[in-house]
Amino acid sequence: MLGHGMKAGERNTPTILNSAFLSLLMWDGRFRTLEDQALGPIEAAGEMNMKLGEMVARVRSIPGYAPMFADAYPGEEISSETVAKAIASYERTIVSSGTSPFDDWIRGDEKALSAGARRGYELFYGKGNCGACHSGWAFTDGGFHNIGLDAGPGGAADNGRHDVLPLASMKGAFKTPTLRDVALSAPYMRDGRYDTLREVVEHYNRGGDSKENLSPEMRPLNLSEQEIDDLVAFMGALTDRRPTAVVYPQLPAAVDAAALAEVQRPSEPRDARAGAAYGGPRSSGDQRIAQGHD
Ligand code: HEC
Repeated sequence: MLGHGMKAGERNTPTILNSAFLSLLMWDGRFRTLEDQALGPIEAAGEMNMKLGEMVARVRSIPGYAPMFADAYPGEEISSETVAKAIASYERTIVSSGTSPFDDWIRGDEKALSAGARRGYELFYGKGNCGACHSGWAFTDGGFHNIGLDAGPGGAADNGRHDVLPLASMKGAFKTPTLRDVALSAPYMRDGRYDTLREVVEHYNRGGDSKENLSPEMRPLNLSEQEIDDLVAFMGALTDRRPTAVVYPQLPAAVDAAALAEVQRPSEPRDARAGAAYGGPRSSGDQRIAQGHD
């Protein structure tokens, strides 16, 4: 993940798909609600690096937001609470549509899955033991497990859930990710160490690399090359044919009409004037987006 100043963060961004249904969020489960989570990245130095007060002042300075917030949260002001609620409410709309080949097959269309994906399904719940943790309709138990990832390219051990819940069993344990649409969300694992699903299955086939506090559900699997391909084919069949439509929003005008006319006077350097008008954009690209023209 790239954050403030284009610096790479330590963890791979988890998908927000189906996060509405999770009772603990983030790789280490440190947040309980999407509302709590939403404000974290705004303030985090490695992510957006902005004080909440500054963020609220910026949103308030954009006149178009006032009626939208009044409509959504009557009687409440624009604050970090209402901003968090708005972001969380949007995230709850990003859910699987049940249109994957696997869903069609479960509903009775025998031809929806390839022979390989069908064998992969058997392996997933059988010899591969994947279903022990990737259970339920979203293929996650919402729990935390240590699957034996070694320290990795960075060389530093990440203790994961243990930092939040200091129980010995949580050392190196991370939240089981959903496998819906997983073929679309490379790279994989909390640090993005694997580029392909095949590398992921090979990891499981080895029974993991580090044995420290390894989950008892992990063991060498002795999968053949064909079986590895079949598991990959099964995971590919969890991809929705109709992905959640993400409509690029029409953002409210960043400044009111009079100020806009002022900043657009051709004799003035636009960026500098626009920046002065609402303390926002640093480039004409920022300005265009902030005004909702894209
Ligand atoms: C002991 C529980 C457990 C078992 C068994 C298990 N997984 Fe996982 N899986 C996890 C956890 C936890 C992670 C995240 C680990 C991390 O990054 O530290 C994960 C990550 C993944 C990912 C990466 C997803 C992403 O978004 O980065 C894939 C793909 C995956 N598992 C597939 C499988 C398959 C296929 C099997 C069976 C061969 C399997 N898992 C068995 C718990 C498990």
